[in-house]
Amino acid sequence: MEIRSTTDEDLDVFVDTVHAAFGLFPEPPVDGGGLWWSALETDRCLLALTADGRPVGTAATHAFELTLPGGTLVAAAGVTAVGVLPSHRRRGVLSAMMRRQLADLRAGGEFLSVLLASEAPIYGRFGYGPATYTGRLTVPRHRGALAVPRAHGSGGGADSGSVEVLRRAECGAILEEVYDRYRRAQPGALSRPHRWWALRAGQPPISPAPRYLAVHRGTDGVPDGYASYSIESGTLTVDEIIAADDAVFTALAWFVLGHDLVSQVVFKHVPPGHPLRWQFADFRAGEVSGDTDWLWVRLLDVPRALTARGWFTDGELVLDVDDPFLGEHGRHLLTVRDGKADCVPTDRRPDLSLDVRDLGSLYLGGTAPSTLVRAGHVRAHHPDAAANADALFRADRPPHCLHWF
Ligand SMILES: CC(C)(COP(=O)(O)OP(=O)(O)OC[C@H]1O[C@@H](n2cnc3c(N)ncnc32)[C@H](O)[C@@H]1OP(=O)(O)O)[C@@H](O)C(=O)NCCC(=O)NCCS
Repeated sequence: MEIRSTTDEDLDVFVDTVHAAFGLFPEPPVDGGGLWWSALETDRCLLALTADGRPVGTAATHAFELTLPGGTLVAAAGVTAVGVLPSHRRRGVLSAMMRRQLADLRAGGEFLSVLLASEAPIYGRFGYGPATYTGRLTVPRHRGALAVPRAHGSGGGADSGSVEVLRRAECGAILEEVYDRYRRAQPGALSRPHRWWALRAGQPPISPAPRYLAVHRGTDGVPDGYASYSIESGTLTVDEIIAADDAVFTALAWFVLGHDLVSQVVFKHVPPGHPLRWQFADFRAGEVSGDTDWLWVRLLDVPRALTARGWFTDGELVLDVDDPFLGEHGRHLLTVRDGKADCVPTDRRPDLSLDVRDLGSLYLGGTAPSTLVRAGHVRAHHPDAAANADALFRADRPPHCLHWF
């Protein structure tokens, strides 16, 4: 078997192979784009071929930027289009592609990659761990009154901003700008490169799928949030609310919940612990469902990754990290002083022993080390180790990602 990177000439074969792996028939071209693969960069795609040159597997990465705790922006390869033909599965084709992909990323100087997993059992073996989570909140409209005023800031007071429903064609640049400002401040969020908006790749509101777009503006008239939603058979479904702050989010939630001729509102992407549930006059108004992992993280260079993110408590931790897929092992002394981390090799006794996939889960602050200790994934070497690690890994705000790729 050969694994090679592709060129523009391979794109049709690449896309056909992915479709066959997923059991999908190729989509007919849509006016104005909207095909999932239109944002692929052919120099970041891999094809696996049999000895006689038949394509049997695909994998690719998008060049994204990921926001880390503390607001640091780093390059993150977004793994996508992973597929192996049903006729060639369980013979190590994916494993070979993953090995090649990780080697290519390292050679290119990248120190982490991310993905969305079609099935949870696939990627742990390659060193990926779930790092952000999301769920759906369904609210019957008659129970959806919010108890809070449409307030700016924690001090309360009416929202003096405005909401306007616009057509996609009128507000493309606004959405792109609002999303970009939001993702820079939100740990776990990914950039949506301009290319995606221009090509209308991905899911609504980027794609040309019909959606209503409610844009919120502050008192200065500057757009600072939007809600993208559809209405069908009495259900209003919110694809995403992107907001500069909680008050803008509340104003947009208030707006969608106020729709006539709607029996329920479904918020598709609510992170665990989001304040929205607490804002309903009736705490049980919102039913949580579809609770699932979203972004998975794979660290390729532990010291670089740990020193890149922001830290919010001083402390010290010795981490013994195993990377069975790459056959690597390292013991690292992580020292945090005044928000800056230092990470050096050590032979000191470890506080925690863990697999690199578990470190991926902890990295953005969305999974508590003590949870993984209690689950039996991470080994704590003394009674204070888990609590110390919880305090150290906590992020400035819970990570969340709602970009689909
Ligand atoms: C997922 C997929 C790419 C796996 O490809 P593959 O070439 O069969 O994978 P490999 O042979 O390299 O498998 C490596 C290991 O992962 C396991 N594995 C692979 N896919 C798995 C799955 N879906 N569920 C559970 N285990 C899986 C294999 O059993 C094997 O385990 P082992 O090392 O203990 O024997 C392939 O099944 C596929 O194309 N599925 C449909 C499309 C899809 O879901 N793509 C993923 C998008 S995120």
